[in-house]
Amino acid sequence: MSQLTQSAAWKSLEQHLANMRGFDLKAAFADNPDRFARFSLTQDTLLYDFSKNWITEETLNLLVVLAEQQELGQKIEDQFNGVKINHTEQRAVLHTALRNRSSNPVYVDGHDVMPKVRQTLEQMRVFSERVRSGQWRGWSGKAMTDIVNIGIGGSNLGPKMVVNALRPYCKEGLKTHFVSNVDQADLLLTLGGLNAETTLFVIASKVFNTQETMTNARSAKDWFLEQIGAKDAIRQHFVAISTNAEQVSAFGIDPENMFEFWDWVGGRFSLWSAIGLSIALSIGMERFESLLDGAHEMDCHFRNTDYRHNIPVIMALIGIWYNNFHGAETQALLPYDQSLKFFTDYMQQGDMESNGKSRDREGNLVDYQTGPIIWGQPGTNGQHAFFQLIHQGTKLIPCDFIAAANSHYPLKHHHDILISNFLAQPEALMHGKNKAEVLAELRPEQRNDAALVASRIFPGNKPSSTFLVEQLTPKTLGALIACYEHKIFTQGAIWNINSFDQMGVELGKTLARSILPELTGSPGFAGHAHDSSTQGLIDAYLKQRR
Ligand code: F6P
Repeated sequence: MSQLTQSAAWKSLEQHLANMRGFDLKAAFADNPDRFARFSLTQDTLLYDFSKNWITEETLNLLVVLAEQQELGQKIEDQFNGVKINHTEQRAVLHTALRNRSSNPVYVDGHDVMPKVRQTLEQMRVFSERVRSGQWRGWSGKAMTDIVNIGIGGSNLGPKMVVNALRPYCKEGLKTHFVSNVDQADLLLTLGGLNAETTLFVIASKVFNTQETMTNARSAKDWFLEQIGAKDAIRQHFVAISTNAEQVSAFGIDPENMFEFWDWVGGRFSLWSAIGLSIALSIGMERFESLLDGAHEMDCHFRNTDYRHNIPVIMALIGIWYNNFHGAETQALLPYDQSLKFFTDYMQQGDMESNGKSRDREGNLVDYQTGPIIWGQPGTNGQHAFFQLIHQGTKLIPCDFIAAANSHYPLKHHHDILISNFLAQPEALMHGKNKAEVLAELRPEQRNDAALVASRIFPGNKPSSTFLVEQLTPKTLGALIACYEHKIFTQGAIWNINSFDQMGVELGKTLARSILPELTGSPGFAGHAHDSSTQGLIDAYLKQRR
C-alpha cells in the first residue's frame, strides 16, 4: 500500500465519499441559493463555475487537506524556482520563466535564465516583424505569403491550437500551415497549394532528430530545391527552432536563422518559447506577448492564491475527487467555440503525456489511479455525436464546458444559439428528466409503453464545470492554457509522479526504427525476431505493397 492511499487525508476522503452517497445536485442547489456564488471563482475575465459538481464545502476542505499533506505549496515553489523536479532527466521545468513578465530573475544551476529568454523574444520580434512587413524577401525577391510549421507533438499542437484559436488576429495575406504526420499526405497536400518562392518553412523540433519531423523537413527541402533550383535559397526559406544547434546546422539551416530554447522547456509546454514563432508570425509579436501576459497573470494567481480560491488547484482537486474516489476514467473537454477546435487535442498531450504514469517518483508502482483520458470536441458538434453516452450511458464523465461571451464574428444570432446550447447541456446533465416529466410529455396512448417511457428518462445528476471568458483574445487564451497546465502539475504533485518525462513513447519509436529496414530491404540487414502477429502483418504488407 502506498503512503498516499494510507494517508490520513486520503482515508478522510474515503470516509467522506461514503457520507456523500446519494448526493444530488438539484437538491444541493435547492438547499443553497448561494451555491453558484460559493462555488465559482473569477480571475480577470475568466469565470470558473464548479458548482455543478458532487462537492460540498467539506469535500473541498478535505481535498485541500490532501493538497497540503502532499506539500503542494513547496512543490509549486520548487517548480517556479528552477529546482530539477523532472528528476529522471535531471531537468528544471520552467515554462513559467518563458512568460515571466516581471523583472524577477529565475535561476537554473545558479544562472539567471531571463536574459536569454528576453534575447530570444527579441530575436522573434525582429524576425516576425520583418516577415510580416514584407521586408524579409525570398530568393526571388518576393515577400512571404505562406508559413509552413513542420513539427510534431508539442512542436505542433500548441502553435497549431493557438493560431487557429486566434485566427481573427492573423495577418491577412500570410497563411500559416501545420504539417506533423509522417504520412506523406499531410506534407504533400499542404505543399500542393504553395509557391516555393513565397513560402517560409519553420522546422520546429526540440531535439531535431525526431523521425517524423526530420523526414517531413527533408522532403520539404527536396520539394523546395526542385522548384527553386538553388541551394543558397535555403537561407531565406528555412528557419529552425531547436535546442540542438549542431543538428540544425547539419540539416543546412544557417545558425543565424535558428531560434533557441532550452532543456528546461518540456515539449508539451513549449508554445511560450521560440516554438511559438509561427504564432508570432501569424498574430504579431505584440499579441504573442499578450498571450504570455495572460499566462503570467494565471501563474501569479496559481502561485499566490490560497487553495480554496485557486482556480487550477480547485480544477485539479475536483478531478482527483472523480478520478480517485468516484472511479471516473475520463474527462471531457468541450469548448463551445469553433476557434478552439484543437484545444482538446492540445490538452490531451499536455495531460496524458504528463500524467499517464504508473510509477511514483521513487519508482514504486502506484496503487491509485493517475491521469485521466482526455477527450472531446467542440460543441455543438459533440452533441450530435457522443453526448448521448454522457447523458444516458453507464459511464461517469465529468465535463468541462468552455465558451466566450463575445464572438469575433458578426452573426450574433449564431452566437446566441451556440451559447444557449453551452448553457443548456450542463443544465440538462444535472437536471435530467424523471418519469413524471416523461409521462407528461407523451400522448395518452404512449404512456403504457414501458420501454418508450424508460428510454426517455434521463438520470441527471451528472457533474460538469463551466468556463466563460469575455472574449477569446490572446490574453484570455494565455490564461486559459496556463490554468490547465497548472491543473496537470497539481494533480501530478498530489499523485507523487513525475509529470515531466515521457519515457512511455520511446519503445514504439525504437521498434519502428528497427522494423523500417525490413520494409525497405536495406542491404545487410539481418532483421530481428517478431511474434507471429507482427511477422504476419509485415509479410502481408510486403505482399500487398505495389
Ligand atoms: O512524442 C514524444 C515527444 O518527445 C513529445 O514530448 C514532443 O512534444 C514531441 O515528441 C516532439 O519532439 P521534438 O520537438 O523534440 O521533435
